[in-house]
Amino acid sequence: MESGIRGNLVGISMAAAAIVVFSTVTAVAGKGPNNIDIFGGSYGKVPFPHAQHQKKAKDCTVCHSVFPQKTDAIKKMKEAGKIKAKKVMNLQCIKCHKAEKKAGNPYGPLTCTTCHKK
Ligand code: HEC
Ligand code: HEC
Ligand code: HEC
Repeated sequence: MESGIRGNLVGISMAAAAIVVFSTVTAVAGKGPNNIDIFGGSYGKVPFPHAQHQKKAKDCTVCHSVFPQKTDAIKKMKEAGKIKAKKVMNLQCIKCHKAEKKAGNPYGPLTCTTCHKK
């Protein structure tokens, strides 16, 4: 006797949740210039030791989450109305310099003419 029992194969597929971990790798291709003259309007340019800050801050996003890694990025964002003038100056530059001073560490300039040069 032929037992043609066709077993119902219920394929229970356990959905294996593949967790893909993306590591956010910041492009290290171009570190940019060692020194940059940041546009500072009528108060004059702001000579900025970029490489020195990259070493100190380690994390590029300290600054580059606010503006991109491009020439005159801050100036262009101000012109496009995306950030207000003096916002980077106050919330990045001076804020950090003040905090470092308070912590008793070496710190950057805090007065107008030590940053702005005509
Ligand atoms: C303390 C702030 C700060 C940190 C930290 C920082 N940058 Fe910058 N970066 C700047 C400023 C300011 C500019 C010039 C923007 C402007 O002129 O508007 C700039 C510009 C650049 C540019 C474009 C330069 C050009 O003109 O061609 C590149 C590329 C760049 N940064 C890469 C990096 C990388 C990579 C890191 C991390 C390893 C980093 N930066 C960390 C402040 C910073
Ligand atoms: C730590 C450095 C630093 C100090 C100290 C500093 N500035 Fe600035 N300032 C900058 C930078 C960088 C910019 C450009 C980015 C921005 O607008 O936030 C700027 C931008 C400005 C602008 C806007 C320019 C424009 O047309 O977009 C004015 C005005 C200005 N500063 C005045 C001053 C005055 C006044 C003081 C003193 C009370 C001062 N700054 C102190 C770094 C500094
Ligand atoms: C995350 C903190 C941090 C931020 C953000 C930062 N700085 Fe500084 N800066 C420092 C520290 C710390 C020093 C002192 C470094 C030392 O003496 O070793 C310094 C030093 C400086 C110096 C003096 C360099 C020298 O050797 O004479 C200048 C100029 C300067 N910063 C400008 C700026 C400007 C302009 C910005 C904003 C675009 C900025 N910094 C943003 C931490 C910061």
